[in-house]
Amino acid sequence: MRYNQSMSKKYIATAIPYVNGAPHIGHALDYLLADVFARFCRQRGDEVRLQAGTDEHGNKIFQKAKNLGVPVTEYVEENSQQFRKFIEELEISYTDFIRTSSKEHIARCQEIWRRLTPHIYTAEYDGWYCEGCEGYVTQSEYDENQGVCPDHQKPYIRLAEKNYYLRISNFKEQIRELIERDRMRILPTFRKKELLKLLANAPDVSISRPREQLSWGIPVPGDDSQVMYVWLDALSNYITVLGYPDQDISDDWPATVQFVGKDILRFHAITWPAILLGLGLELPQNLVVHGYVLANGQKMSKSLGNVIDPMEVIHKYGVEAFRYYFLRHVDTFADADFTWEKYDNAYNNELANDLGNLVQRVATLCRKNQLGVQAGANYEVDQALTDEYAALMQNFEFSKAFDLVWDKIQYLNKFIDETKPWELAKQGKLEKLNQSLGKLIGNLQLISRLLAPFLPATAERIAEVFSQTEITPPETPLFPKS
Ligand code: MSP
Repeated sequence: MRYNQSMSKKYIATAIPYVNGAPHIGHALDYLLADVFARFCRQRGDEVRLQAGTDEHGNKIFQKAKNLGVPVTEYVEENSQQFRKFIEELEISYTDFIRTSSKEHIARCQEIWRRLTPHIYTAEYDGWYCEGCEGYVTQSEYDENQGVCPDHQKPYIRLAEKNYYLRISNFKEQIRELIERDRMRILPTFRKKELLKLLANAPDVSISRPREQLSWGIPVPGDDSQVMYVWLDALSNYITVLGYPDQDISDDWPATVQFVGKDILRFHAITWPAILLGLGLELPQNLVVHGYVLANGQKMSKSLGNVIDPMEVIHKYGVEAFRYYFLRHVDTFADADFTWEKYDNAYNNELANDLGNLVQRVATLCRKNQLGVQAGANYEVDQALTDEYAALMQNFEFSKAFDLVWDKIQYLNKFIDETKPWELAKQGKLEKLNQSLGKLIGNLQLISRLLAPFLPATAERIAEVFSQTEITPPETPLFPKS
């Protein structure tokens, strides 16, 4: 692979989920996208920091614990561990894990509040609120959605209370300019446009709630009657995890990229930039916004009873199959569907047939013809493919990059069918045979490198087979047929 970028530090951040339940398959996306990019960067020699964590404050979580009759600290601890276990099952190469109920985070958040004081004022809030989003809702959003949150199917509630506000208006112009000039690049472009429209009418945001309304949160410094609004607390995780403000974070900040779902775009592209500018910090370089995973074409919800347990999906064919489906069949930027039928087909037709068979066929042909990898052999590498792939990966177009690799896998299967190496062997056309097998070996080595960010264990197994002086097929197929 050609390295055209010098080694550098990268900080990659993921949205931190609420711990009001177990992880579902939709939660996998932030982690998988971040992990693919992290592995791609490491392969190119970068030093990568990848953060994950859990968002543990707020009424939703407090209520849930209360209904279950469990102390809230125990409840969040247990669910946070479930998310951590999930991340580990997914083989996410994270380096940092933050819990927003940790002592360090709480103290750092309070210091962040103090530093933002010049941009904070108090006022009465009288308006709509979505408890599902833990978000304030404008009258026009209320009207447009006829009083019910489309993401949570829950009626908005009316709030009248004294709150602290962050003066978004102080930063609006600056944020607009930074986003327009791609200083914080929002991808895909249609999300950037959507955000710029939202920004034009963005009101100042409330950053606290009265303690009697919200007891499970970080106390506002200097005002015992108020608790920080969960989003201020949650967004700050991206820098408190690095040690801000006690430590110098200039080695890691600004983040190279943050991955978030489409429902939390405005928090990350309006509130978060305002906080950062208020603190005198730069904005993340990229904000990648992914779509939703649907189950059988429908939004997953507990009331519809169609929530898919990710552990069940992982345990059916293993984690590599899970990564394959969610990274290739879920377009990086669009909504996508999960059905067991699609999943089974992807496993059998693509992983087992296309890739598994290719590896088995080529390795068997090599063994029969006693062809191994010669020391110092320089197999022809498809530079155009490598370059196109790298360009897509750098632009966070992961599912497209994955498609390219798959096209190559399918092309190689066709190449074998057409060149029929077994006939070349029978006919004694040894030069032609060695040439064809050499091409296949070189391409499988390349495929292993290009697959590594997506399917790390599979890539390693392929590399292992096609690096030996005596090539032998893997003892068990890469993806046994189900
Ligand atoms: N706690 C906030 C994020 C705070 S970040 C400072 C939150 N939590 S969440 O649990 O609701 O969502 C966590 C992530 O999962 C978000 O990026 C969200 O968009 C994503 N998803 C939640 N459901 C999803 C799907 N069905 N499909 C894809 N992603 C989804 O928001």
